[in-house]
Formats: sequence, structure tokens, C-alpha cells
Amino acid sequence: MKGLILSGGAGTRLRPITHTSAKQLVPVANKPILFYGLEAMAEAGIGEVGIIIGETGDEIRGAAGDGSDFGLRITYIEQEAPLGLAHAVLIARDFLAADPFVMYLGDNILKEGIVDLVARFESENPNSQILLAKVAEPERFGVAELDGDRIVRLVEKPPEPPSDLALVGVYMFDETIHEAVRAIEPSPRGELEITDAIQWLIDDGRDVRPHLISGWWKDTGRLEDLLEANRLILETVTPAVEGSIDDKSDVVGRVTVQDGAEIIDSVIRGPAIIGRNSKVVRSFIGPFTSIYEDCEVIDSEVEHSVILESCRIRSISRIEDSLLGKEVIVEQDPQKPAALRLMLGDHSRLSLP
Ligand code: G1P
Repeated sequence: MKGLILSGGAGTRLRPITHTSAKQLVPVANKPILFYGLEAMAEAGIGEVGIIIGETGDEIRGAAGDGSDFGLRITYIEQEAPLGLAHAVLIARDFLAADPFVMYLGDNILKEGIVDLVARFESENPNSQILLAKVAEPERFGVAELDGDRIVRLVEKPPEPPSDLALVGVYMFDETIHEAVRAIEPSPRGELEITDAIQWLIDDGRDVRPHLISGWWKDTGRLEDLLEANRLILETVTPAVEGSIDDKSDVVGRVTVQDGAEIIDSVIRGPAIIGRNSKVVRSFIGPFTSIYEDCEVIDSEVEHSVILESCRIRSISRIEDSLLGKEVIVEQDPQKPAALRLMLGDHSRLSLP
């Protein structure tokens, strides 16, 4: 089997972070989201992976390279515009040839991985296997209507969902999907929808099998989903201390302190991760916080947040439920008059108590 990972897309729901970076490279528990998908592929014994890239292609190439770090061979496929998931399959035709493949949306994380799912697909050998998960807001996803084990209908983001079963962003196909993606028309949002292509397979009498997943799944497209994914992953990380913790600090629970990180006179309450060469001084880091590389947190409190590389947080009490992009500075300033002095990028959000 081959793998196809989709890493184009504009990431509009994670602006301003995605004005400058690919959403698939935002770290969750200090690892880029995309890497969870690549690792899942390797774990399932898939060697050849195509990555669909768009505007942020250079950054994705820089991060994933030739795939050898993951035990994969990666081929990059450029999509000139985000024209839909089925369009991605269309342009990957030469790479995929007639092989069966797993298509994996680069901003999705699936707790159980794909080992069992690939094995099931290979042994049952249907034309397609789709994964479903019960969700609270099905209108945000592709939704399946079932009759027992049979799929009756799939609809993309229906205002009135026929069920609470969302289509997970991990799909398995054989070569019949290539006929489907050529047969469908763009949706009202102007995209070739994979949901419509799968519906085409069903209408054409092909064997499409649904599988309700048991573990959690997250589409990390929005801030709240990203924070939740960070929470879920942090709870599964095996704690390790490679950096240093001084005697005046108190570190409790599942805490990872990565290489070169320094914890000085601080309290860290896990689950949390402090990235390489970051410094936490006279501060409190609360549960569900991921601080990436080269950050400084001084005289501050941070909880339930994801902080990207090279941020500086000084004398701030306290930051919660937040996502800070790279090189962000949040600090108190003794200058008079006491006022907010801001330089915020487009689409920034600032919530003051
Ligand atoms: C896409 C699919 C949708 C699926 C979702 C899963 O939506 O179109 O059917 O449920 O991924 O993450 P998008 O995130 O592109 O809007």
C-alpha cells in the first residue's frame, strides 16, 4: 500500500498562526502534527508516501525531508490551489498508479494509529474503507447516514446532519477511486469533495465499508481542537527529564523536560512538556501546557496552552487556553503611562480579563 498525506490547504481557522506557517507543522506536545501521520504510516508498514503541498510547500519539505527520518520515501506533489481532497487524489494519479492507498489529512491525529485499519482493509479488500467517529457537532464534517452496516448516504457539512457520525480524515481506497474523482463536479464551496467521490462509488455499486473507530480522533483545524489534541497527546507521553531542574523547583505529574531546558525556582504541574533549550524561571507551568524550543518564561504563569518556538513571556499572570506563534513576546512593561502596547498580526485575538 502507498500513503497520501494532504498538507496543502490554507488553515484559515488557525489564523494568524497560518499566515506565516503551515497548520500541519504546528506542534502538539512539541511534535509537528504532520509527523503523527508520517509515523502512523511507517508503523503500518507503508514505505512510499506522497505529500500534497500548496503554498506552504517549502516549509513542509524542510520539515519532512526525504522521509528517511521516519523510515519512509516521500514524494512531494504540488497542488496549485486548494481545490479539494478529491482534486488531491486526481493530481496524485501518477504517484499512486494502480496501488491501493491510505489517504490521511495532514491536520488529523488518530490515537489508535492505522495498523489495524490497514490490516482490515487488506484482508477484506473492499474498494474503500472509511472511518467514522461520533461527534458533538457533525455539521462541521462530512456525515454518514447508515442502515445497519451499510452506508446509505454521505454528505459534506450538512446544516441538518442525518446522524452524529463524522467522516474521519483517514480513508483507504483501491484504484476505483480514480474513476470517481474524475466523474464528480465541484461542490458549492468550489472544491472536488472526497465525500462526493465516495458517494459516487456507493451509487456505482462499489464496496465501501464503514468502520466506527474506538479511540479518539482530532481534526486540529481550530484553536480549541488543537488545545484538545495537545491535552490528549500529553496524557500519553512517557515523561523524561533530559534538561535540568534545580533544587528550588517542584515538578509533579507527567512532565517532560527536553534536552538543554532549564527549570529554575519554578513549579511545573504535568502533564506538560518544556522544549529544548527553553528556560522557565520563577514561574508556574500548569497542566496541559506545551512549551516548544528556545522559549523563556520568567516570573509568569502558563496553563493549558501551546507556545511555539522562541517566545518570551515575562511577568505575566496568567496565560490560559492560548496558542502563541513563533517569537511572540508577551511581557509587562514598567514604562508610563501604564497601557497596552501591542503589535498584533492580522487576525490576532487578545482577550483581557
Ligand atoms: C474534511 C472533509 C470532511 C471530514 C474532515 C475530517 O473537511 O471534507 O468530510 O469530515 O475533513 O477532518 P475539511 O477539514 O477539509 O473542511
